[in-house]
Amino acid sequence: MSHSPIIVALDFPSQADALALVERLDPSRCRLKVGKELFTRSGPPLVETLVAKGYEVFLDLKFHDIPNTVAGACRAAADLGVWMVNIHATGGRRMMEAAREAVDKSAHQPKLIAVSILTSMAQQDLAEIGLSGSPAENVQRLARLAQQAGMDGLVCSPQEVTMLREQLGTDFDLVTPGIRPAWSEKGDQTRITTPAQAVAMGATYLVIGRPITAAPEPLEALQRIEVELAGKS
Ligand code: C5P
Repeated sequence: MSHSPIIVALDFPSQADALALVERLDPSRCRLKVGKELFTRSGPPLVETLVAKGYEVFLDLKFHDIPNTVAGACRAAADLGVWMVNIHATGGRRMMEAAREAVDKSAHQPKLIAVSILTSMAQQDLAEIGLSGSPAENVQRLARLAQQAGMDGLVCSPQEVTMLREQLGTDFDLVTPGIRPAWSEKGDQTRITTPAQAVAMGATYLVIGRPITAAPEPLEALQRIEVELAGKS
């Protein structure tokens, strides 16, 4: 079990690649995120392997379906022993409430987090699917709904953290990707924030991929981020 805010994104195409990295990390110092590509290739056995190694796993599958189906998927995630699972707030209140109930009735209860608007969606993309207003307005509306429906937190971009922390109070997890330490490559991320800035703005958990996974010494990269966080807190 880790007390670190750092969640390492295991964005690898194969189980072998993912496990090679995991062997070089430490479950007391970070959590792991398994997303759609790795899960679709390697499935529940990989998640169970990571859990057995002592890692807390964020299963980033962003469920979005009818309430009954999402409830079943969340139950299955809980049975896998994951630490966090997420669903789309645009699935609506009844879908989120069904997921909440399914998790609450499970023996092991992961954190249940909502995704509001994907950061890849610009205002024009939203208009095309019938959502008026700016991305920020839509994020705020869906964040409110997610909180009312009993979610434990929200995935959001660093640009939204300050606004959402103010709106949602302290008892709500904000999970942010788009994190880059000052010393690392930006890659394809454009609007980025350093780990210390994100935490100072109110982020609870930081999803960090390539600055750690592509580093020659991943544990050293993790340590540099830990030092940076300790210095600023
Ligand atoms: O390597 P990097 O640090 O950019 O990885 C970030 C992780 O967070 C990836 O798994 C990516 O899919 C995810 N993510 C993101 N931006 C979002 C939502 C998720 O980078 N808006």
